[in-house]
Amino acid sequence: MKEVVLGLLGLGNIGGGVWDLVRTFGGEVEKRTGLKLRIKKALVLDVKVHGGKEVPDEVLTTDRNDILEDPEIQIVCEFLGGEQPAASMMLRALENGKSVVTANKMALSLHFDELRAMAKKTGAGLYYEASVGGAIPIINAIQSPLIANHIEQMMGIVNGTTNYILTRMAAEGAEYEDVLKDAQRLGLAEPNPAADVEGFDAAYKLSIMGSLGFHSRVFVENVYREGITNVTAEDIAYGREMGYVLKLLAIGKDNGDSIEARVHPAFLPADHPLARVDGSLNAVYLYGHSFKDMMLEGRGAGDAPTASAIVGDIIQAATNAVHPMPYMREDALPVADDWQTRYFIRMKAKDAPGVLAEVAGMLAGEGISVSTMMQKGAAPGGKATLIFITHLAPEKAVRRVVKALNPEICQVENVIRVES
Ligand SMILES: NC(=O)c1ccc[n+]([C@@H]2O[C@H](COP(=O)([O-])OP(=O)(O)OC[C@H]3O[C@@H](n4cnc5c(N)ncnc54)[C@H](OP(=O)(O)O)[C@@H]3O)[C@@H](O)[C@H]2O)c1
Repeated sequence: MKEVVLGLLGLGNIGGGVWDLVRTFGGEVEKRTGLKLRIKKALVLDVKVHGGKEVPDEVLTTDRNDILEDPEIQIVCEFLGGEQPAASMMLRALENGKSVVTANKMALSLHFDELRAMAKKTGAGLYYEASVGGAIPIINAIQSPLIANHIEQMMGIVNGTTNYILTRMAAEGAEYEDVLKDAQRLGLAEPNPAADVEGFDAAYKLSIMGSLGFHSRVFVENVYREGITNVTAEDIAYGREMGYVLKLLAIGKDNGDSIEARVHPAFLPADHPLARVDGSLNAVYLYGHSFKDMMLEGRGAGDAPTASAIVGDIIQAATNAVHPMPYMREDALPVADDWQTRYFIRMKAKDAPGVLAEVAGMLAGEGISVSTMMQKGAAPGGKATLIFITHLAPEKAVRRVVKALNPEICQVENVIRVES
């Protein structure tokens, strides 16, 4: 039996979840792997908050050096969240030759290059399965069993909070603000929900998945990002009538000479595998040249599911003779600022002769053809809702049309991309 000595940075939801899993399941893990996991120290902000609880007082510390500078601690597990001091603590651990296991997509995405460089320099391991998709083994899948593939596309529901909100909006016909308030009351959305609802969290995750899957660095600032705050119950209902389900998607595509990386709400055909991924579940759909298509689905958050991925990483960090280091090309592909997809354009327009022809003419002028059109609430002389679904069209051309449409005649109320 080999002992593996761990230091935890942070003892919140995830740190606490790892403590619990090691305590309740460590014996079984030991039988299966021959490794005895021992948490020697856990960094907290205030010992008084945690003292007298399940974690013995001698394990708690407020001094990071008790973990980062202790030669007995082999693996540092980071669950502080946020960019700093998490990133600099991880860097110091790696510098000291300790492997790092983290669940922190933000610090990882923003400091991926320096962390990988330090790990390479000292030979320490850097493991981050829990940073994307919680319990879903997407990071390992891309890096190991699927390595003999050119991954052409990835499309993920990687944020449980927004998927929960959109699922309830669809099921109840409820508006975004009302469901958000309820999700906050239930503890499923943060008091400040911006990281989730504005798509930041999904963008960090796409930056990590994309960098690994396309072997080319995808910086988060190059990920196009739009959240769910402008989605209405009306959009969801009309989309459903036309055979679509709305999701917040993290989309990555390798187009050969460039990469597409975008996070935004999107309609999917109701029979798409991602369309039935509801509530707070996560899923990632991949297309690779040899495995073709595949979808991994599961719990993307929560203390126990996330701890499951973390303990898996700890075992890998403790057993790998050589720590894996993802290959990334030196001449990173550019991240495209234009792409082709289909568009759902919802507008209010005067119910008068010539209006349809004007809109269709402007779309045609940009080479955009319409595949479906729906008109609702027509009342002569009044306003009707018009919905156009286009064929494949360039993003920039659609934006130009939307900007140029005469507001006296029609007001565009929402534009939502349609994926397949
Ligand atoms: N929650 C999930 O389901 C989930 C899933 C996947 C990944 N993650 C990632 O896991 C990480 C941790 O998330 P979490 O939900 O566990 O957050 P959390 O509950 O807020 O825990 C973070 C803990 O770190 C402590 N902390 C913060 N800064 C510190 C410092 N400088 N020194 C010592 N302690 C410090 C906080 O103490 P106080 O409590 O005193 O502020 C808190 O207890 C984040 O990167 C998150 O993105 C979370």
